Amino acid sequence: MSDKVVISMRGIETRFGEKVVHENVDLTVYEGEIFGLLGGSGSGKTTLMREMIMLLKPAAGKVNVLGYDLDNISREDAHILRTKWGVLFQFGALFTSLTVADNIAVWLREYTTISETMIRQIVHTKLEMVGLAPSVGNLYPAELSGGMIKRAGLARALVMDPKLLFLDEPTSGLDPVSAEAFDNLITELRHLLGLTIVMVTHDIDTIFNVVDRMAVLGDRHIVAEGSLKEILKNDHPFIRQFFGGNRAKVRIKAMEMESSS
Ligand SMILES: Nc1ncnc2c1ncn2[C@@H]1O[C@H](COP(=O)(O)OP(=O)(O)O)[C@@H](O)[C@H]1O
Ligand SMILES: [Mg+2]
Repeated sequence: MSDKVVISMRGIETRFGEKVVHENVDLTVYEGEIFGLLGGSGSGKTTLMREMIMLLKPAAGKVNVLGYDLDNISREDAHILRTKWGVLFQFGALFTSLTVADNIAVWLREYTTISETMIRQIVHTKLEMVGLAPSVGNLYPAELSGGMIKRAGLARALVMDPKLLFLDEPTSGLDPVSAEAFDNLITELRHLLGLTIVMVTHDIDTIFNVVDRMAVLGDRHIVAEGSLKEILKNDHPFIRQFFGGNRAKVRIKAMEMESSS
């Protein structure tokens, strides 16, 4: 893994009215890694991600993304920065009135002057990249399965060839087989495209199979940041609780047996 910092958050505080969501949150995402944001429902994972992509300004603290200080960024730089990342929101539904191909092409039509012929070629490539047949481009979102919708959303997130990808609970709502297939796709694309990925997840399989390093949010703070091994050594009650379920226990046991054999 690279030691080049892609995202740094320091002393982040987030409030909605009286409610304090984050207090003194620090985290660092390095180039080329798949960084997991973990924590219970409502712990502020999505909110933290929104602060990384300029959809929300924290009440205090510093956010730096790809060398840009988001507090002091010019309009022009903000525009450039937005084209350098792709986002797949948890409920980032595709536009229902557009075909899959037109959904994928939205940013190209918005941000570039690329010809229609080129756009069709790029859409074709992106569909292939996420494992969808070219004919899927002609379908409407309502005609797709859950797994296909996620893949189409991923194709749209990758359309500008970003180096940085944000995924909010990408496998939630998928059956276990589709979820595993999506996890494998993410891992492949990371290598193929040299991506840095920030992924909000509480899927135990994803955490064990895909994530390199992670930060665990609990009680307004990051209670731990590190590799899975480091996190599992941590005795914080939030971590004990998070990895205390049966599915996690089975995976931990398997990991221990693997490393002792
Ligand atoms: N725009 C908002 N206005 C008021 N409260 C919000 C807003 N967005 C999020 N919250 C609150 O902040 C907390 C964290 O939300 P969120 O980041 O969505 O959690 P998570 O993604 O970890 O489930 C929740 O209590 C949520 O209700
Ligand atoms: Mg969320």
